Amino acid sequence: MNQHTNLPPIPFIDVAAQRRRLGRAIDDAVARVLVHCQFILGPEVKTFEAELAKFCGARRVVTCASGTDALMLALMAKGVGPGDAVFCPSFTFSATAEVAALVGATPVFVDVEADTFNIDAKSLAAALDTAKKLGLKPKAVIPVDLFGLPADHDGVAAVAKTAGLFVVDDAAQGFGASYKGKRLGTFGHATATSFFPAKPLGCYGDGGAVFTDDDEFADTLLSLRVHGQGSDKYDNIRIGLASRLDTIQAAILSEKLRIFPDEIAARERAAERYAKGLSDVVGVPKVPAGLSSVWAQYTIRVPGGRRDKLAAALKAEGVPTAIYYPIPLHRQRAYKHYPVGAGGVTVSDRLAAEVLSLPMHAYLDAATQDRIVDAVRRAVRS
Ligand SMILES: Cc1ncc(COP(=O)(O)O)c(C=O)c1O
Repeated sequence: MNQHTNLPPIPFIDVAAQRRRLGRAIDDAVARVLVHCQFILGPEVKTFEAELAKFCGARRVVTCASGTDALMLALMAKGVGPGDAVFCPSFTFSATAEVAALVGATPVFVDVEADTFNIDAKSLAAALDTAKKLGLKPKAVIPVDLFGLPADHDGVAAVAKTAGLFVVDDAAQGFGASYKGKRLGTFGHATATSFFPAKPLGCYGDGGAVFTDDDEFADTLLSLRVHGQGSDKYDNIRIGLASRLDTIQAAILSEKLRIFPDEIAARERAAERYAKGLSDVVGVPKVPAGLSSVWAQYTIRVPGGRRDKLAAALKAEGVPTAIYYPIPLHRQRAYKHYPVGAGGVTVSDRLAAEVLSLPMHAYLDAATQDRIVDAVRRAVRS
């Protein structure tokens, strides 16, 4: 209970509600794996990969151990390494830039658009020169579909084409969303996603996948995820990783994928309710025409230094919030020595001071949401 009401606290993401809905289906799926005992790359992994490909329209899907590994495997398969510049937004989760550094390349930070929170194609174009001046070879770009909203994939593709950049879409938060009528998973040369439990399509542990239409690239990924194997795992033809999606997680994800379209629709309804209740008091997210978000987060903007006060007032009413992300990557201790593109990343800095994410999941009922909306309105007015 909280200090202002007698109502119970509201979960930020309700994984347990989904677990109750799926009930026996998950128990049975896990039990089937426990019977055949093929815990690594068992039949459920192939089945789930085929289901994912059908869901988003990608030709090939290679699952792996996490979203971070999915991004890294894509860079490894393309041979990105020392001397290469990998462009990524500063306003994102650390993994986006981390993988560039892990393969020995240099992340170059690019700004985002204030309206969408996603990579700004103009800032990307300006950063190409910065990289060249530093003696780096512009090699890859990682647009991020932040908070579930697809990035400006046409804008990024146009810049990437002129500069010969390899495009890896970081759809860790956006898988399930669509861009101009096509689901994410089919943009750029490869797409990476995460099945971390809090993601729109999450498992009960870590997991990830890479999507591509390129057969040769997909075959390289298959080798990389098993120590760079060749004709078998004791034939090592390249340096790789141990990065497989557990069979149990694949079995769980197949059950979750069945209800995913229904959950996406429920998230959409929740986002509409928030927009209706809040658009006159705070900055609410806007979805550009022709795009759909999967609403990994519902992130409002509270300018004028009032964000932290609002978060504290909501906490006192049992309404949890989160700040994604309080420090943009170009200011993080681990990343601040990496270059920022010409023109700077001022929007990223501003957003870090203004954003606040509200509870969002497919099981957010209207009554709970009314309580959140009322609390925000009260706090903003006080
Ligand atoms: C934008 C973004 N990229 C990459 C990742 C990494 O995914 P994982 O946690 O599965 O490694 C995440 C998730 O946390 C993310 O939000």
